[in-house]
Amino acid sequence: MEEDYLYHLLEQMTIDEKIGQLLQLATPFFKGSSTKGQITGPMKEMGVTEEVVENAGSVLGASGAKEISNIQKKHLESNRLGIPLLMMSDIVHGFKTIFPIPLAIGCSWDLELARHAAEIAAKEAAVSGIHVTFAPMVDLVRDPRWGRVMESTGEDPYLNGLFAKAQVHGFQGNDLTDTKRVAACVKHFAAYGAVEGGRDYNTVDMSEWQLRESYLPAYKMALDAGCEMVMTAFTTMNGIPASGNRTLMRKILREEWGFDGVVISDWGALKELIPHGVAEDEKEAALKALQSGVDIEMMTLCYTSHLKELVATGEIEEQLIDESVMRILKLKNKLGLFENPLRGANETLEKDIVFSAPHREVARQLATKASVLLKNDDVLPLSQDQKVALIGPFADNHDVLGQWSWLGSKEDAVTLKEGLETQLKSENLNVAKGCDVESRDERESKIALQIAREADVIILALGEHSWMSGEAGSRTNIKLPKAQLNLLNDLKQLNKPIVVVLFNGRPLDLMDVTEKADAILEAWYPGSEAGNALADLLFGNVNPSGKLTMSFPRAVGQIPTYYNHYNTGRPKGAPDAQERYVSQYLDSSNGPLFPFGFGLSYTSFEYKDAHLSSNIMKQNETIRLSVKVENIGEVIGEEVVQFYIRDLTGEVIRPLKELKGFERITLQPGEQKEITFTITEKQLRYYHSDLSYKSDKGKFMAYVGSNSQDVLAVPFQLM
Ligand code: GLC
Repeated sequence: MEEDYLYHLLEQMTIDEKIGQLLQLATPFFKGSSTKGQITGPMKEMGVTEEVVENAGSVLGASGAKEISNIQKKHLESNRLGIPLLMMSDIVHGFKTIFPIPLAIGCSWDLELARHAAEIAAKEAAVSGIHVTFAPMVDLVRDPRWGRVMESTGEDPYLNGLFAKAQVHGFQGNDLTDTKRVAACVKHFAAYGAVEGGRDYNTVDMSEWQLRESYLPAYKMALDAGCEMVMTAFTTMNGIPASGNRTLMRKILREEWGFDGVVISDWGALKELIPHGVAEDEKEAALKALQSGVDIEMMTLCYTSHLKELVATGEIEEQLIDESVMRILKLKNKLGLFENPLRGANETLEKDIVFSAPHREVARQLATKASVLLKNDDVLPLSQDQKVALIGPFADNHDVLGQWSWLGSKEDAVTLKEGLETQLKSENLNVAKGCDVESRDERESKIALQIAREADVIILALGEHSWMSGEAGSRTNIKLPKAQLNLLNDLKQLNKPIVVVLFNGRPLDLMDVTEKADAILEAWYPGSEAGNALADLLFGNVNPSGKLTMSFPRAVGQIPTYYNHYNTGRPKGAPDAQERYVSQYLDSSNGPLFPFGFGLSYTSFEYKDAHLSSNIMKQNETIRLSVKVENIGEVIGEEVVQFYIRDLTGEVIRPLKELKGFERITLQPGEQKEITFTITEKQLRYYHSDLSYKSDKGKFMAYVGSNSQDVLAVPFQLM
């Protein structure tokens, strides 16, 4: 439709109909809904009227071509002006074909595969009637106590932004009238990942300098990639919750960044201005949120109940409501809903497209790239003539999809046992649970020890229930449950090689595991093809190549621990450092157990001859960093070559390292490649104390290597 039609439509709308467009309700409220929608928040009995539902603008959590078509058809029969509903759902890492959790996808360092996975998720969602997905989640994370780290791609602003861009392109394509695509909604704006204590929904407070330096870049890269929507965070910034924060939502998002798309509150976040203590009642919450530019209120009724009165009393201009309604109508128009309210919903095609074999093949491929080999004392890869004892609560467990897989089918997920059965003769595979996820089981333990005694090698599948991470899944203790550590100790007494495979949604404290395991494969939640992907890796059909994008601390007491930290005035280990009076712990070393960028392979890569095209760089010039990488092992392997920079002296403190580029390469045994990165002045810019964003002349260090610690260093100067 031409935009004039939308303005004409707006002119015809009553104020109730306008306010209705600003409301999102979950599926069960709508006529034509046969099933409960996905209830992902505190849903109380909300006294909505028939008229409110008939005027509502969008639906939360619907899925299924039949269900969504019924809801839309019924709605259009009763909506006076025939304004179609927007169908929005959380398709975070897959619709029914579930890919690895986003933290795992981040560890693949494969942007094209991440884009492709998002494209597949969009295709499955769109044919099932969905128009908008609440993804990508790009919150920077530095605290593994927070359960939602599983939804992010990690602790680096730049890498998160690249993944955000790839996912937005995958979801949206180039034209949203393409009914195989969905609109994306970047979340949670902003800095939700910085909750104090890693406790979900807790206070967030930081300087605007740190907000802009570390937390905002990925949202901006998602919006620069054309992301259509933004979701507000539950949390505060400078003392004001995002949903009522005019500085964040208007000054930065709309005025400075020029975002004129739709902003939706998170579930109930608009009404939560009251318990936050910045709104006395729903009326004040409505006033503050609308003034902040929040267009859609998800699952509460502050707007519905009070905006009309606020206009009548002159406390707000109806113009503000009109602006929000227009943004929503424009999005509906971009999606082609006025011409085709059912858009891509197609029950026939749905059967062939959703959870198709080609889609599951991509999920398998991504899961092999997303898993990270953390330790391998020559026990992997396994061979098919070995007698394997597969033990642990995740040995034959369907809980491998992660928390944001609500449309995925756990029953259809391939368990580790099922995957191994495709690689081993039955006589070479014995399976026992050994214990439950959180409790000991004497009988199971005895069986496990027995099959372990008869085996050549033990695969010990350990981890967290998927509900132990994800939203509202914070933990103060990030070790594996005691029952599992006890099982590991018992098995260790048998002096058999032990391969630990981990199913978890956060970096864990693995200090008790690394000493006892001969190999550790971090599988995260690998998704629908979990078992097949892990079998590929464990038997060497695929050589592991994943690299961590979030540091694993040595202890929860170290948190936050992240690679791009600052030097402090008393760095431990400095040449002139004193023994005691330095920045250190008395009971632990400072660094992480496994650093950002770390991941092993079944082969080895040697880095040499790192050099710059010039050690002097002028403002308007570029220089090149080159390094030779050789596969010095016996098998083909993929390596993620990483490029970091350090600004040795800034106007403000500067991180010890910042990722500025990477390249995923494949090398045959004995093959060597020269990899080159271009260094630009733009990459040296940062936020100064006055929040100006620019580079300074001075000394820098360029680093290149296989992770954020094992690097070759080459100095240069910006003139
Ligand atoms: C949840 C989450 C958000 C999700 C929304 C809708 O509370 O915070 O990420 O998109 O509700 O399900």
